[in-house]
Amino acid sequence: MKGRLDKRLRARWDALIETEGKRLGLGGCRPFLENKLVNDIFYEGTFKGRPCIVKCSSRAPESIANEFELGARLHAKDPLHFPEVFACHPGPYAFVVREKVESERTLADEPDDRYADDVVAIIDALFESEVVFRDILPSNFLIAADGHLKLIDFQFAVDMRTRRIDPWMLRHPEYHFTVFAAVIQGSVAWWDDADYATLLLPSLRPRLEPRIGRMRFEIPLTPLVVFRLRLLALRLRIRRMFSRRDSRKRHAICRRLERLKWLSSS
Ligand SMILES: Nc1ncnc2c1ncn2[C@@H]1O[C@H](COP(=O)(O)OP(=O)(O)O)[C@@H](O)[C@H]1O
Ligand SMILES: [Mg+2]
Repeated sequence: MKGRLDKRLRARWDALIETEGKRLGLGGCRPFLENKLVNDIFYEGTFKGRPCIVKCSSRAPESIANEFELGARLHAKDPLHFPEVFACHPGPYAFVVREKVESERTLADEPDDRYADDVVAIIDALFESEVVFRDILPSNFLIAADGHLKLIDFQFAVDMRTRRIDPWMLRHPEYHFTVFAAVIQGSVAWWDDADYATLLLPSLRPRLEPRIGRMRFEIPLTPLVVFRLRLLALRLRIRRMFSRRDSRKRHAICRRLERLKWLSSS
């Protein structure tokens, strides 16, 4: 967590939510999470009387519009597993409003096989909607009050009809290829949701196996990206030598990079 948002930026968001937000149907918004790497701030409140979450970004505003479009497509396909998306305010200070999922836990807290059918349904809905989600982390699978998993967070999901990559991701290859857990093979990186979902619940492997390779998003690695990833690997290794108390996330990235032998061989 990078700490509190700059005061001026915070005031700007509060004002936007009060004006544009209200015009759209927002009410009673209070912030609950701020200054993440990509998103400035999250609010919770109501949208036309229904509990909602507002996700705001000035760092990657195009990704907010992406979340709105793909989130709506997925909700239309499978309303049980994808929360409704209510509204979007585009522009350089963009926010998206989605249905609040009443949930205390995620698949990270409870990686239980009773959610196997939900995971398979989610993977199938993504496939049928031509979306590669890419961010298959247990924390994005909320366990809702109705007992079903709900998938959130479509900011950097890829619409396979356009294969467009968000400009923020293009500027941050370290995030794109490590935090988003790409598989890197030779000079190509790829994402396959069915393949990654086997890591969520290992018992699912036989059911997911026939779905692996069905829809995969690939990006060729340019020499510049390879160079930046090598620098990252080096920086993380040096930093680890000097600090014993390392964040779990950084450890995970280190391990991932270490597996990529080509990054450390120079
Ligand atoms: N629709 C929702 N219902 C309930 N909680 C939500 C919802 N959307 C987001 N959250 C909360 O906000 C956090 C961050 O949201 P997410 O969209 O995953 O953004 P990030 O890109 O920061 O991971 C989630 O981990 C969850 O705690
Ligand atoms: Mg998330």
